[in-house]
Amino acid sequence: MLKGFTLWFTGLSGSGKSTLAHAVAEELARAGRLVDLLDGDVVRQQLSKGLSFSKEDRDTNIRRIGFVAALVTRHGGVAITAAISPYRALRDENRKLIGNFVEVYCKCPLAKCEERDVKGLYKKARQAVADGKPMHFTGVDDPYEEPLQPEIVVETDQASVEAGAAKILKRLHELGYLDEKVDVSSGLNAHHEHLPAELIAKAEVAVRKTGRAHSQALMDELHVGFVTASRLLDILADKGVVVVSENVKRKT
Ligand code: ADX
Repeated sequence: MLKGFTLWFTGLSGSGKSTLAHAVAEELARAGRLVDLLDGDVVRQQLSKGLSFSKEDRDTNIRRIGFVAALVTRHGGVAITAAISPYRALRDENRKLIGNFVEVYCKCPLAKCEERDVKGLYKKARQAVADGKPMHFTGVDDPYEEPLQPEIVVETDQASVEAGAAKILKRLHELGYLDEKVDVSSGLNAHHEHLPAELIAKAEVAVRKTGRAHSQALMDELHVGFVTASRLLDILADKGVVVVSENVKRKT
């Protein structure tokens, strides 16, 4: 049986955990691994529906995620978790519980996450604080405890998604969790499979509708993984529909 493991992403809201987690998940699935992605936002709509952001509820949330990740890991699968998981003690508790635990710190300065403010929540949190109504938002008026010895650090404000994902895959390989099937040397650019014209047409519509030439927008709209979304953006760039910005530029 293949060796199961948990890839535990941690980092501030907006630090890129989800995007990287999806990219790595897609690569591992492509290599034939059974992957379960426990994304913080999704877990909070399902497994942890109704929980607040108090310390107690965050701890409950993280314990639940750890419990599921342990099951997946025990059965030879890959559990990928992407929740803020702000408390070191809880991450360490899951490390002990799970055993084959690889912690990935998505390191991004608060100012950068706040500048991106993808969900507009930092703005809300600052406003709440200014109004004297605490929101307990991580990094603003709630703590985030950085990992002390994570297996992997990705500086998500410096590295592209491809570079970050390639770094993670390489490290997993070094740690003995992957066999040769995941070609980390060629990174994420090795896939040139044909994408259906229908999907490309849908991507074009989505980009025009949302006005966002960003892989995350395509992932959300078309329910495709990161690699496919990136390929679609490349194709649309070739067609002159979008201009691919520097930080998402890929080799062809
Ligand atoms: S955790 O602390 O329990 O690990 P989790 O990853 O599940 O957090 O949820 C974080 C997401 O919830 C954020 O990305 C953000 O979209 C949303 N959110 C809403 N309120 C808060 C808050 N007070 N602190 C942090 N995130 C919040």
